[in-house]
Amino acid sequence: MNKGLYGLVIFIVFLSFTGVASALTPEENLGQSVYQDTAFSLRGNQSCQTCHHPSAGFADPVNRRNLVPVSEGSIPGLFGGRNAPPAAYAAFSPIFDRNCNATGADCFFSGGLFWDGRATGRMDISGTAGPGDTPTGDPLADQAKGPFLNPVEMALVDKAAFLTIFKANQKYVKFYNQIYPSISTASDNDAYNNIARAIAAFESSTTVNKFKSKFDAFRAEQALESVDVSTITTANSTGITSAVYSVNEIDGLALFNTPRDSGGGGCSQCHPVPSTGATQAESVFTDFSYENMGIPVNQLAKDLNGSDDTDYGLGTQVTILQTVADTELPKLEDADNDQTVVASEAGKFKVPSLRNIAKTAPYGHNGYFLTLFDIVHFYNTREVSDWAPPEVTHNVNDQDIGNLGLNDSQEQLIVTFLETLTD
Ligand code: HEC
Ligand code: HEC
Repeated sequence: MNKGLYGLVIFIVFLSFTGVASALTPEENLGQSVYQDTAFSLRGNQSCQTCHHPSAGFADPVNRRNLVPVSEGSIPGLFGGRNAPPAAYAAFSPIFDRNCNATGADCFFSGGLFWDGRATGRMDISGTAGPGDTPTGDPLADQAKGPFLNPVEMALVDKAAFLTIFKANQKYVKFYNQIYPSISTASDNDAYNNIARAIAAFESSTTVNKFKSKFDAFRAEQALESVDVSTITTANSTGITSAVYSVNEIDGLALFNTPRDSGGGGCSQCHPVPSTGATQAESVFTDFSYENMGIPVNQLAKDLNGSDDTDYGLGTQVTILQTVADTELPKLEDADNDQTVVASEAGKFKVPSLRNIAKTAPYGHNGYFLTLFDIVHFYNTREVSDWAPPEVTHNVNDQDIGNLGLNDSQEQLIVTFLETLTD
C-alpha cells in the first residue's frame, strides 16, 4: 500500500470512530434544524422534538415521564387524541397500499404513517390531492406537513404563516436555496413540500435510525456462528451460546418467535424478527399491516382530548381506502356518532415498530398500557381474563392474540427481550 492510500485508510478508520463519517447532509441538516425549532409553533413553545425526543426513543418524553397517554399542543390545555409514536424508524414505512393474493382475494392494507395510515405518501395530508398540492411520494414527508398546522399540535394557521417564520431566518433561506430551486420563486405549496422533505431526510438519517441495539449486536454475533436469529425458537434455543445476550434474553426472543400453537407468543408473525441478511426496512419489527388488537377505551385520553367519539382507526380513512382499493367498500352500519367507517378496517391500527420500545411508554394507540408487562399480559389473557371490552368490537383479532397460555415468567421473558431493542 502506498503512503497516501495508507493515510487515507487511517483517516477513514479515524472518521468511523469519531462519528464524523455520519455527519448530516445539507438537506438532513436543514431538516434537523426545523425539527428542533420551537419558532414554528403558535406560542413559540413547541417543536417536533418536544413530542419526539431522542431521550424517549423519539416519542414524547413528557408522556413517558408522567405516563400520560396523549400530548399537549402549543396551546396549553389542548391535547391530541392518540399516543405519540416514535419518529425514529418511521422512515421505513412504505407508501400506503392494498395487497391482494394471486387470486385477487384476501386483500389487506399496509404502509403509510400515523396509527391510521393517513399520511400515505400518495396525496396530501387531508387525504385529498388538492389543486397545486402535489403528492410527495413519501409517507414521511406527507406526515411532516401535518403537525405545524394541526390545532392541537403546533397550531400555526396556514402554510403562509409557517413560511413567514421560515423566510425570516436567513440561515434557513440560505440552506434551502443550496438544496432546492430558489425559495423566492417557489409557490407556498412547493416550498412547504420541500421543507417537509428535508425533515423526512433528517428522520431517515442514521442520527435518528441507529440500528445499534443489543439485539443488533446479538444478530451480528450469531451471524458469525452461522445462526440466523429469526429462526431461534423454544425448540432450539438451548443450544445457543452468546457473549451478548443472557440466557433470559435468548429465551425471551425464542418465545417471541415461537408460534402460538407451539407454546410461544407468536409475536413475530406481525413484528417479524429480522434474519441475518435482512434489509433495514425488514429490521424494524413490523410488517406495516393493520390489526384490531381489541384495546379498551382509554377514558383519560378521551377526557384530555375532549372527544368521546369511538376511534375506528384505519376504518375512518374512507377517502384513502376507497381510492386505493378502487372498488366500493362496505361501510359500517352501526358506527358511533354518524361516522362513516369502512367495515373491514374498523378498529384496526398500524402494527408499530418495536425498536426502542422500552423508552416509549405508555403503549398502544391510546396509551392504555403503562408498562410493557401490561400489554404483553393483555395479549396473553384478553379472552380469558377480566379486561374491559374492546373499544371497537369489529374485526378484533382473536386468532393470534388473546389466549396465549403463557405463564407469568414467560411474559416477563418476552419483556426482557423487548428491552434489548433499545439503541
Ligand atoms: C404535540 C405533540 C406532537 C408534535 C409537536 C409533533 N408530533 Fe408527531 N405525532 C404526535 C402524535 C400524537 C402522533 C400520532 C397521531 C396519529 O397517529 O393520529 C404523531 C405521529 C408522528 C409520526 C408517525 C409515526 C408512525 O409510526 O406512524 C411521525 C413520523 C411524526 N409524528 C413526526 C413529527 C414531526 C416531523 C413533527 C414536526 C413537524 C411532529 N411529529 C410534531 C405528536 C406530535
Ligand atoms: C396480529 C398481529 C400482532 C401480533 C401477533 C402481535 N402484535 Fe404487537 N401490535 C400489533 C398492533 C396492530 C399493535 C398496535 C395496536 C393498537 O395500538 O391498537 C401492536 C402493538 C404492540 C406494542 C405497543 C407498541 C407501542 O408503540 O405502543 C407492543 C409492545 C407489542 N405490540 C408487542 C407484541 C408482543 C410482545 C407480541 C407477542 C406476544 C405481539 N406484539 C404480537 C400487532 C400484533
